[in-house]
Order: sequence, then C-alpha cells, then structure tokens
Amino acid sequence: MANVVITGANRGIGLALAQQLAARGDRVTAVCRDSSDELEAVADQIVSGIDVTDENSVRGLQTILSEILDGDLDILINNAGVFRNESLQQLDTDSIRQQFEVNTIAPLTLAANLSPLMVAGSKLVNITSRMGSIADNGSGQYYGYRASKAALNAVSKSLALDLHPQGIAVAVLHPGFVQTRMVGFNGDVTPEQSAAGLIQRIDELNLANTGSFWHANGEALPW
Ligand SMILES: NC(=O)c1ccc[n+]([C@@H]2O[C@H](COP(=O)([O-])OP(=O)(O)OC[C@H]3O[C@@H](n4cnc5c(N)ncnc54)[C@H](OP(=O)(O)O)[C@@H]3O)[C@@H](O)[C@H]2O)c1
Repeated sequence: MANVVITGANRGIGLALAQQLAARGDRVTAVCRDSSDELEAVADQIVSGIDVTDENSVRGLQTILSEILDGDLDILINNAGVFRNESLQQLDTDSIRQQFEVNTIAPLTLAANLSPLMVAGSKLVNITSRMGSIADNGSGQYYGYRASKAALNAVSKSLALDLHPQGIAVAVLHPGFVQTRMVGFNGDVTPEQSAAGLIQRIDELNLANTGSFWHANGEALPW
C-alpha cells in the first residue's frame, strides 16, 4: 500500500487515477482547488483550496502533508494542467505565460517542496503531453502548450538526475488523447483506460529507467 498524492484529482485523468489507485488499496491524498462528489467517494484525504501556481499554497502543502500522511510520500503525481491554443495570428502571451505557470513551474515547485517528504524508492511522475515532444511535432501551433510541456520534460530530466542520490525515480508520462473536459471530451481513450496504462508505467518506474518519457501504452517517446 503506497501513499499517493495526486494534483488535479477532482476530475478527468487525475480522478481516474485516484479511483483506480484507491481501488487497489493505495492511500490516495487528493490535491485540488475544489473537490467533487466523485473524488469524495474515493480519496482517503482531500486537500482542497490549492492552486498549484500559488507558491505559498504549495509551501503550505508540505506542512499539511507532513502532518496528515501516515508515513512517507511514496508517489507524487503532478497531473494538474491547462491546454490552450495560440496561433501566430492570435498570439495571446498571457495565455502562454499561464500555461508555463501551471504546466512547468508548478510541477517543479511541487517537486522541490514535496521531495523532502519522499525516501529511497519513492516515485515522482509528471503528466506531460506528446505535444511537448519537439521531435514529434508535425502540425505546429499550440505555442504555449507545446513549449510548457517541452519545458516540463526538460525540468523532469533534471529532477531525475538531482533526485537520484535520494533514491527517487522520475518519469514524464503522456496519458494518450483522453476524453476529458480539456479536449471537449473528444479523444481516443477514456480516462479509465488512460489511468490503467499510467499506473502500469508508474509500477515499472525505478532508478534504472528514471528520466524516461513514456506513452501510457508503454511506447518510449522521443524528446
Ligand atoms: N486529455 C488529454 O487528451 C491529454 C493529453 C495529453 C496530456 N494531458 C495532460 O493530462 C493532465 C490532466 O488533464 P485532463 O485531460 O484530465 O484535463 P482536465 O479534465 O481539464 O483536468 C485538469 C485538472 O487540472 C486542474 N488544474 C488546472 N489548473 C490548476 C491550477 N492552477 N491549480 C490546481 N489545479 C489546476 C483542474 O482543476 P479545476 O477543476 O480546479 O480546474 C483539473 O483538476 C494535464 O496535465 C494535461 O495537460 C491530457
């Protein structure tokens, strides 16, 4: 039984991860801005009122978790994210900045503040996107989303190196094209199918394969 902390757990992929991890007996602590009935039904503990871009909230989260977690933090899943589109013709730089705040800087500040609660054998998982792959970009646009997820990938590689001495393994995982509100519920797979694949990848993560970029289906993705 692992102690798992998931951000953005009130809906979408984060909720499906919370449901499946709780169902197999892991102790799920959900972090969100606002909870949901579905989350209340499964999470062991819910820390609401946390905007991941608010550094004071994230610092406070370390204190809260150190008080409420029964034992060490085994798995941190940085799942909260935002997705917008900007074309060259309609470049909304505030939107781009906001995506960097949520998709890149927040996972880094969460890792910095919560890794002291982790021990050898713990795992840090950043939910990225295939759209953050530079090698895989065949259709352009989405400046803020692509760049913020590519930056998250870069951040994750450094985290894998920096946290290795503590015995913490790090992965960046693409969930697939998933039927959630983020993509208007269009997508190839359900949140449940995505979460099942992500959990398999998390189970396989260790210090020998730390710093990897995987699709939830197990495919290694190019940076
Ligand atoms: N769906 C896909 O096809 C797809 C593909 C590739 C990658 N992803 C990634 O998968 C992750 C989950 O996405 P999803 O599809 O489940 O999207 P979603 O249903 O839109 O859920 C996004 C989650 O992020 C939370 N969030 C956003 N900004 C936040 C903030 N400032 N502070 C705290 N929480 C915040 C949302 O909370 P609120 O309810 O409070 O807004 C919500 O819980 C994201 O990182 C996304 O980039 C998704």
